[in-house]
Amino acid sequence: MIIDNLKAQYIDGIDSINRLSFSDPWSKNLMEQELDNPNCYYAVGVDDGQVVGYAGMTVIADEANITNVATHPDCRQQGIGKALLGKLIDICIEKNFFLITLEVRKSNIAAISLYESLGFLVEGERKKYYSDNGEDALIMTRRF
Ligand SMILES: CC(C)(COP(=O)(O)OP(=O)(O)OC[C@H]1O[C@@H](n2cnc3c(N)ncnc32)[C@H](O)[C@@H]1OP(=O)(O)O)[C@@H](O)C(=O)NCCC(=O)NCCS
Repeated sequence: MIIDNLKAQYIDGIDSINRLSFSDPWSKNLMEQELDNPNCYYAVGVDDGQVVGYAGMTVIADEANITNVATHPDCRQQGIGKALLGKLIDICIEKNFFLITLEVRKSNIAAISLYESLGFLVEGERKKYYSDNGEDALIMTRRF
């Protein structure tokens, strides 16, 4: 697998992973707008020309917020999510960002395990954060 930046040629693959991974996925149009967003960074995993996963973050001042992380269902638990998020963490360190933070559903054990494996700690909760089912979010943060 190679890890690349976000490019137009990857949008279809990312859109398909989003639809397979999220109950309320970003639209393809929203993903396309990210191509012109100077405040975001993406790590796209590509294997044999196919997108196998991706991770994205937006940055405001010196704080990064993870917007999406997903691995294609056929490729999970092979270290791909960890490699992609690790790439975003490397960017944060290189650019001297202060912290990287995210919200995650309390029930999302796979994602929470991924974040914990990379040193994220639970710093708080947002009650009824997800409008589709009223689920609480955990706020997880890694400080540098
Ligand atoms: C969460 C997700 C991105 C993980 O991707 P992945 O490529 O399967 O993760 P990795 O193989 O890199 O695993 C990273 C760590 O998480 C753990 N993990 C991954 N899936 C797990 C699961 N289903 N149950 C328990 N632990 C799990 C791994 O054991 C690994 O820990 P380790 O390094 O200590 O061994 C993937 O499950 C996914 O796409 N889920 C749907 C989208 C989603 O929920 N995104 C997060 C939104 S906040």
